[in-house]
Amino acid sequence: MPLLELKDLHVALEDGTPIVKGVDLTVDANEVHAIMGPNGSGKSTLSYAIAGHPAYQITQGQILFDGQDITEAGADERSQAGLFLAFQYPHAIPGVTVTNFLRTAINAVRKAKNGGVDDPISIKEFREQLFAAMDKLKVSRELASRYLNDGFSGGEKKRVEILQMAMLKPRIAVLDETDSGLDIDALKVVSGGVQSLVGPEMGALVITHYKRILEYITPDHVHVFVDGKIVESGGPELADVLEASGYERWETQKEAVA
Ligand SMILES: Nc1ncnc2c1ncn2[C@@H]1O[C@H](COP(=O)(O)OP(=O)(O)O)[C@@H](O)[C@H]1O
Ligand SMILES: [Mg+2]
Repeated sequence: MPLLELKDLHVALEDGTPIVKGVDLTVDANEVHAIMGPNGSGKSTLSYAIAGHPAYQITQGQILFDGQDITEAGADERSQAGLFLAFQYPHAIPGVTVTNFLRTAINAVRKAKNGGVDDPISIKEFREQLFAAMDKLKVSRELASRYLNDGFSGGEKKRVEILQMAMLKPRIAVLDETDSGLDIDALKVVSGGVQSLVGPEMGALVITHYKRILEYITPDHVHVFVDGKIVESGGPELADVLEASGYERWETQKEAVA
């Protein structure tokens, strides 16, 4: 049974405008899937719907996680089950340090795994895990005591996001445009971090407009996403085709059908 399964997923905006128009996709542990599509094709809408964002309505179809129907589940429930989403525009949380944010997030997952009973991580164990993850991802220790995303550079935000992922150990990670606004060093850290976490415990869905991040994360499957639908799926070579010739071929098809 695959970890994440989207079945004929349709997503609309709050005003009812349909954006995602029937997506079938399965992502399992050990797999990296890339969804590549032009701006405005509905990629972020798809990732918000997977995350359970209340502003995006699932109007048809299903999302299954490890065989459970989570189509109606809240965002908290999804993340506690092991779904992790890194967004294109992370929010700042003034007044909450990176350390406290991470500890709260870890404790929420531990509580859910412990049948709803608090099971807080010890300070010692938390610090050990945090420092090990920071060293691995080359995040400076100074960042841990700062307020989350408050005045962070694009690269710092992404490093903290990947740090959060390394500590929460999700089973499926969805990364929406993680490459935008990153310099090459930060991009290498982020993609190296994701790559090192993908394995028997985790699979990843990398959503991107550009091929750049795929030079550092090797996808097993590439899906071309145009106008709310997957219009073609293939192996990593499909990303090269897109880089060379863009989305025109599929967009023209769309116009011909419309
Ligand atoms: N919260 C929202 N309010 C209004 N329009 C939205 C909202 N989210 C997405 N859209 C619209 O839905 C379409 C798809 O957007 P999006 O999912 O962000 O695409 P992508 O991530 O592929 O660039 C766009 O026309 C966008 O303007
Ligand atoms: Mg987007």
